[in-house]
Amino acid sequence: MEKSGKKGKAILAYSGGLDTSVAIPWLMDQGYDVVTMTADVGQQADNMEEINDKAIKTGAITAHMLDLREEMIEYFIWPGLKANALYEGVYPLNSAYSRPLIAKAMIRIAQQEGAVAIAHGCTGKGQDQVRIEVCANALDPTIEVLAPVRDWHMSREQEMEYAERHNVPVPTTRNSPYSLDDNLWGRSCECGVLEDPWNKPPKGAYGLTVDPIEAPDKPALVEITFDKGIPVAIDGKRMSAIDLIDALNKLAGAHGVGRIDMVENRLVGFKSREVYECPAAVTLITAHRALETITLAKEVMRTKADLERKFSELTYEGYWFSPLMEAIQAFVDKTQEVVNGTVRVQLYKGSAIVEGMKSESAIYREDLATYSEGDAFDHAASVGFIKVWGLPIKTWTETHDKGSVEFETDVKDTKLTSEAMVMAF
Ligand code: ARG
Repeated sequence: MEKSGKKGKAILAYSGGLDTSVAIPWLMDQGYDVVTMTADVGQQADNMEEINDKAIKTGAITAHMLDLREEMIEYFIWPGLKANALYEGVYPLNSAYSRPLIAKAMIRIAQQEGAVAIAHGCTGKGQDQVRIEVCANALDPTIEVLAPVRDWHMSREQEMEYAERHNVPVPTTRNSPYSLDDNLWGRSCECGVLEDPWNKPPKGAYGLTVDPIEAPDKPALVEITFDKGIPVAIDGKRMSAIDLIDALNKLAGAHGVGRIDMVENRLVGFKSREVYECPAAVTLITAHRALETITLAKEVMRTKADLERKFSELTYEGYWFSPLMEAIQAFVDKTQEVVNGTVRVQLYKGSAIVEGMKSESAIYREDLATYSEGDAFDHAASVGFIKVWGLPIKTWTETHDKGSVEFETDVKDTKLTSEAMVMAF
């Protein structure tokens, strides 16, 4: 066994769970001085102070505890919201945002502490390992990335035994039957009985939302105000980003909004069944997208939709820190200059439905849209417009297949002529 500290410092992303606790003596055995980093990203029910104490008791020389919630919102969640980012059209990417954030924080601490390596507790099967490692390398390729859990090939029993031998306090709480990950933007739940897509997720798979069937019979209405694509107030009350997301998670969650049950295409080649709960994310994306319909120009919306898909894929696949992501974000930011206004959303038994919206920068014009009095649309102009718009199609038909269109001959047609009408009377 090498003497501790010979290789230099390693920054370990530490949760206090069994895997990352065992990783402390394991890294020490490999010759590293271990510095832990525990991040608050808005996950539920972790006692940060206890975790820090435990890190030191287990052998860490320093234990950092970081509140990354604001950074997560400003640099990951809001850019994602502005891009209406949903992987494969449904997953709000909550887990996928936290990995580049954690990688960035670890690299920052590694640089401050003069560490030679960072270490994470991901297994060799998920995509979180890909995201952390690709992002860490993108930020500082000189720092090595270690993945003890992937490398040590220990079963859970072996880990427990190793923990005992090294006086690692073993978690007393019962191990969840699922693999869970949560933060401000939502909760991810996978594994266990969920692996069979025919199984309905048991009650215990959910933690942030009520079953829509049991949600209140009376809907809740919420007015969300956006400034340049970012939500700043609820029901006219300005609040901090953290409070706003917390408030919506609670309110929408109580109405069963934000449950997503999907089979997704993983980066690492196979499909997996995931249950997400993202009450605030689903409500905000729904509202934001609606506001864009009255504020963005048609062609901007269309081009943005293509880039939104790309944004989601880059995030999911670990390319957060990449030149394409930077360019897409610059485009999206430009579009958001006019996304100002208020959207009213009804939360009711699992659905978030937009009921109304208004904006000072709306390019929706009632006097153009109306079919009633006060119509400002130039009806006469339609004649010339249609002539020109239809010209290429008309030219095509005249040139190639004049009169050759095939019509259905056996369409049931009940004919009534005016003669027959007269006869009947
Ligand atoms: N499948 C999701 C993703 O890759 C969720 C991952 C959640 N992580 C976890 N350790 N349970 O983004």
